[in-house]
Amino acid sequence: MSDTLPHYSKEDILDIEKNPFKDDFPLLAADENLHYLDSAATSQRPTCVIDAQEDFYAKTNANPLRGLYQLSIEATQDIENARKKVADFIGSPSEKNIIFTRNTTESLNLVAHTLGDLILHEGDEVVISVMEHHSNLIPWQQITKRKGAKLVYLYPDQEGHISDVEIEKKITNKTKIVSVAHVSNVLGVTLPIEKIAKRAHEVGASSPELLLSTPQTPAQGMGDTCTLDAEGNRTEVKNSTSKKPLPGIKGAVVIVDAAQSIPHTRVNVEELGCDLLAFSVHKIFGPFGVGVLWGKQTLLLAMPPFLTGGEMIDAVTEESAVWAPLPEKFEAGTQDAAGIAASQYALDYVEAVGISNIEEREKALVDYLYEQLSALPYIKIYGPEKADERTGVVAFNVEGIHPHDVASLLDTKGVAIRAGHHCAQPLMQFLGTDSTNRASIAFYNDKADIEALVDGLKYVWGIFHPEDAANASDVCGTSGVTGSGSVESAK
Ligand code: ALA
Repeated sequence: MSDTLPHYSKEDILDIEKNPFKDDFPLLAADENLHYLDSAATSQRPTCVIDAQEDFYAKTNANPLRGLYQLSIEATQDIENARKKVADFIGSPSEKNIIFTRNTTESLNLVAHTLGDLILHEGDEVVISVMEHHSNLIPWQQITKRKGAKLVYLYPDQEGHISDVEIEKKITNKTKIVSVAHVSNVLGVTLPIEKIAKRAHEVGASSPELLLSTPQTPAQGMGDTCTLDAEGNRTEVKNSTSKKPLPGIKGAVVIVDAAQSIPHTRVNVEELGCDLLAFSVHKIFGPFGVGVLWGKQTLLLAMPPFLTGGEMIDAVTEESAVWAPLPEKFEAGTQDAAGIAASQYALDYVEAVGISNIEEREKALVDYLYEQLSALPYIKIYGPEKADERTGVVAFNVEGIHPHDVASLLDTKGVAIRAGHHCAQPLMQFLGTDSTNRASIAFYNDKADIEALVDGLKYVWGIFHPEDAANASDVCGTSGVTGSGSVESAK
C-alpha cells in the first residue's frame, strides 16, 4: 500500500496554483469541473484508503476478535494496527486508550451517557461554548436536564474568540465537565483549549464518584471495575478501597471535540491537556462509519460502559456481568472492521504529505479565499477578521439571497458548498442569522477552486441583480466588481 502514498516536494505542496493531490483522490480526478468546497462536512478519500477498504473485504474478511482461525486473527491484527496508528497520531501514551465508535457524535454521546450519568448531580454545571456543533450540545442539554444540572455557555467576543475573563467567569468550582470544540465548524476559529483545560483542572469540582469507586491502577481495573447487579444497576468495585483521586484526573473533566481540527492541524492530547477527545475518521480522508474516542486510561476505567452486549464482557452469568478490559469494554457488537482497517491508511497519507505542509498550504488557501470574498461588496463574512485565525472554513452570506439559493445555483457551476445552520443553531442565533453559506477547504483544493466559487457568486448575484449581470459573468479578478466585503463578526 505504501507505493500509493504521495511523495511531493514541499515547493509543489505549498504552491496553491499547483495541485499534485487531485490525482490521488479518484472522485476529484474524475471531474475537473467539480470544485469541492465542503470538506468540513466530509472529506474525499485517497485511492490508498479506498483500496485498503476493498482489500479488507477481498482478502481479510472475518469477524475480528471472535475467531481462532487465521483470517479472524488477521482481521483482529488490522484493527489493532489501526488502533496503534491512531494512538501515535494523536500522541496517546497507549493504544488501549483508543475506542472505536461510529463517529464524533457517538463518541460524545458515549461520554455524556456514561461519565455524565455517573458524576452529574443537581446544581452541578457543564460548560460548553455557544459555537458547539449540535453533537457536542444536545447530549449535554439532555443529561443536564435529566440530572438537574446546569448547562453553562462560553460566549465568544466580536471575532469569535473566547476571552480569559469569560473562561474565569464561567468555569468555577461548580463545574464538573467542560466539553468544547477545538475548532468551530462555522467560524473556523480555534478555541483556547489549553487555557480552558488548565482552568477546569485547577478550579473545577472533583467528582466523588471518581474518587470512591474506581481502581487506582489500570491493572486493578481490568475486568472488575464495573459490574451489573440482577436489576442491571452498576455495582461498586469489590477490590478498590482507595479514596485517592484517579491518577491524572483533577478538577473538572475536560472533553475536546476535534472533528474540525484533526484534518487541518496537529492534535496532540497531552499538549491540549484534555481528559477525553473525539473525532470522526471520515473528515480526515478515511471511511465513513468510524469515530474515535480517546480518554485517559484511569477515566475510561472508571466510566461505566455505554452499549452493552457482545465482546464488551469478560464473563457473564444469569445475574451479572464483568466488563472486558479497555478498549473492548466500550466496543460492543461487531464494528466496521473494514473501515477501521482502512483508517490507518488515511493517517499514513496525511503523514506522507506532512501535517505542517498541510497547515501551510491551507493557510494560503484560506487567505486567498478570504481576500477574494472580502472583495465582493455584497458578501458578509462571519468570524475572525484575520484570515490566519481561521482553520479550514469561511462562513458568509450574500446580501438578500438565501444560502439555499446560493448553494443550489453554485451547484449548477460545479461548486459544492454547504448552506444552512451547519448543525449549530445556537451559534446562528448568536450571530443574528438563520443560516449561512460555508466554504470549507482541504489541502487537495487549489486556487482554481476558489476562483470557481468567486465566479459562481458573481453569477448568483447577477441572477438576482440582472443590472449587474455583465459584471457577474466575467471571470474572477477581471469582473470589475470590487470593493471591500463587509466582515460581520460574532456579536
Ligand atoms: N459536522 C459536519 C459539518 O459541519 C457535518 O458540516
